Amino acid sequence: MTKTAVETYHEQFARDGFCLIKSVLTPDVAARLLADVAEDIHRVGMDKFFGQTSIHSNPGLEIYSHDYKLLNSFQWGLTGLVRDITGANLTPGFAYFQIYQKDNHLFVHSDRSSCEYSMSLTLAYSDDLPWDLTVSDSLVDHSDADEGKVVAEDHGAAKYHRLTMAPGDGVLYPGYDRRHGRLEPNPNRWSAHVFLHWVDADGPHAKYAFDEKFKDTNVDFNIPKA
Ligand SMILES: [Fe+2]
Repeated sequence: MTKTAVETYHEQFARDGFCLIKSVLTPDVAARLLADVAEDIHRVGMDKFFGQTSIHSNPGLEIYSHDYKLLNSFQWGLTGLVRDITGANLTPGFAYFQIYQKDNHLFVHSDRSSCEYSMSLTLAYSDDLPWDLTVSDSLVDHSDADEGKVVAEDHGAAKYHRLTMAPGDGVLYPGYDRRHGRLEPNPNRWSAHVFLHWVDADGPHAKYAFDEKFKDTNVDFNIPKA
């Protein structure tokens, strides 16, 4: 991405609190990444990843980075770019891959506190039909303990922004602070997405770095002499 593009997204994010980033992945890379994940899913068996959460109307496939390190590498590689765009000292939290099926509703909700900075990235639509993400214009009032738990069909009276992604595009937004969802059912037979979450290492959610999973990074190698 050019310096000018990063600066433009940085200005947008600072002004609006979110931004649509074109071609986070080039279309060929998005397609190749999905092909690699699909290969692994089919090798293990689709039923292993089938499930449903309260923010979806239909079950889908979901794989977390804790179980699939390819997603860690993917997120870690994007962290420098997202740090430049947000201007925050970001540390990865966690990521997950998801396939939504036809007619699924993604209800309007906000994320847990480890999702301070989030990216929703589209990999593919089976029928090339964009399925818009919406992001609220207003912030969740976390002084009300229940407000962050609300799951609804729409944004109610709140103003919101509609963001249309092509494969490879991503929306960067504060998942913990802004409600978001997809207001229409998925028009595609399926769609594939990656969701990435970061926290500010200098902010109130810093403890959620790497989703609180400690790893000793002092590694050493005793390489055998030939
Ligand atoms: Fe979310």
